[in-house]
Amino acid sequence: MMKLAVIGSGYVGLVAGACFAELGHEVILVDNDAVKVNALQRGDVPIHEQFLPELLERHRNRRLSFTGDLAAAVKASDAIFIAVGTPPTEDGEADLSYVESVARGIAGSIDRYKVVVEKSTVPVYTSTWIRKIMLLNGAPPELFDVASNPEFLREGTAVTDFLFPDRIVIGADTLRCAEVLRECYQPLVGGAYYLCPEAIPGPEDASVPPPLICTSAKSAELIKHACNAFLAMKISFVNAVASICESVGANVKQVVHGIGSDSRIGPRFLRPGIGYGGSCFPKDLLAFRSVARECGYDFRLLDEVIRINEEQRHRFLRKVRKALWTLKGKRLAVLGLAFKGGTDDLRESPAIAIVKCLLQAGCEIAAYDPAAAGHAAESFAHRGMSFADTAYDALQGADALLILTDWEEFAALDLDRAYDALRYPIVIDGRNLYEPELMAEHGLVYYSMGQPDAVPEKRATRTLKLA
Ligand code: UDX
Repeated sequence: MMKLAVIGSGYVGLVAGACFAELGHEVILVDNDAVKVNALQRGDVPIHEQFLPELLERHRNRRLSFTGDLAAAVKASDAIFIAVGTPPTEDGEADLSYVESVARGIAGSIDRYKVVVEKSTVPVYTSTWIRKIMLLNGAPPELFDVASNPEFLREGTAVTDFLFPDRIVIGADTLRCAEVLRECYQPLVGGAYYLCPEAIPGPEDASVPPPLICTSAKSAELIKHACNAFLAMKISFVNAVASICESVGANVKQVVHGIGSDSRIGPRFLRPGIGYGGSCFPKDLLAFRSVARECGYDFRLLDEVIRINEEQRHRFLRKVRKALWTLKGKRLAVLGLAFKGGTDDLRESPAIAIVKCLLQAGCEIAAYDPAAAGHAAESFAHRGMSFADTAYDALQGADALLILTDWEEFAALDLDRAYDALRYPIVIDGRNLYEPELMAEHGLVYYSMGQPDAVPEKRATRTLKLA
């Protein structure tokens, strides 16, 4: 059992803290936001994340405590994980001022050997800077090491991603430091956790125990940025292929099946749509591009990945215009506001960008999202925007249905009920949740991303009947 401090109770910090407690460590989660700390102490669960409520319940006030006192948490710990925000600055670099201020705070409380670990996604050289800042602020050089231990968790599956990872990357420049980090993950890499009867259930295809990859701190920093950039590149690549499919009348799902079956490419992260969003990819791509630029490398491939991603929302809006002609006064049902299914997170959501454009064009929107609608209602006081309690309520009387987030429930709509609820049987799907033929069989005109449009034969009569 190790004594750990995790600084920052956002997505990464809260999940990492709860999971380290689950692995048997004693964890102090530190946040300078007293309201947040009080809420966590009371038992609130601030984010929508599978298994997180169970873990917090299991370990709160036992192996997991919450505090605003950084110095006391550092003194009590063998390793301190920094998981504070690194938001983008205006020119796309990561703003590391929170990391710096935490490093200063930690420096004064180093009274025996400790490992300071970057857990937030940070640019290469951050570990070097953390060390410099800590030395400048009086931390004795022989009493600490700085390591990088990037987190690859996805929102919605963050807990299982932590406990059943593809790999664990430890970037440490001394053996002593690597050993401390290895200890933190021993229940996973040694496999003991997976034998616990109360272990959180993992995905069916999880390969356990996970490998531990030990690198230098700089390599670990680069692994995280390069990994996210590569995944975003896969998405933009398939979106570009989907555009070509549309032009020539091919079906992108068939094309993806063909290319994804090549084991060198793999089938994952090849789902075309309205583009990637979220708190990581957009920010990390900009940051990685800045890092490259600073190192003297003009990483233009990343410019193109970003450009294709932004173009996807315009492509989708063009489809809406193609389906509906004019937009002013049209009533649209929107299913999905979160940046992907399974989360309530709206950050950089392409769905939100599209909804804003449609509102600006004079559309009225009835939106439904199983988890994100509450947040959206708080920040969305636009005229013309309303929120429905169910998908079918949103569809009622709408001129068309727009699918913007890949929630499982949107892929399982009762299509006859949807047909009856809609004023016109038009579906524009930004996530390719349906087969065009199936939609046509249900009398729905169906537009999607890189699949042929579907126009049912009976459309004219049924539309006339409705009108
Ligand atoms: C991502 C990385 O996957 C994770 O390793 C990292 O730690 C944080 O960033 P996350 O942002 O939670 O995780 O979402 P992810 O599931 O990766 O999806 C990112 C975006 O890409 C979403 O908007 C999603 O809809 C989109 N996406 C994903 C696609 O458009 N097509 C795909 O094939 C996959």
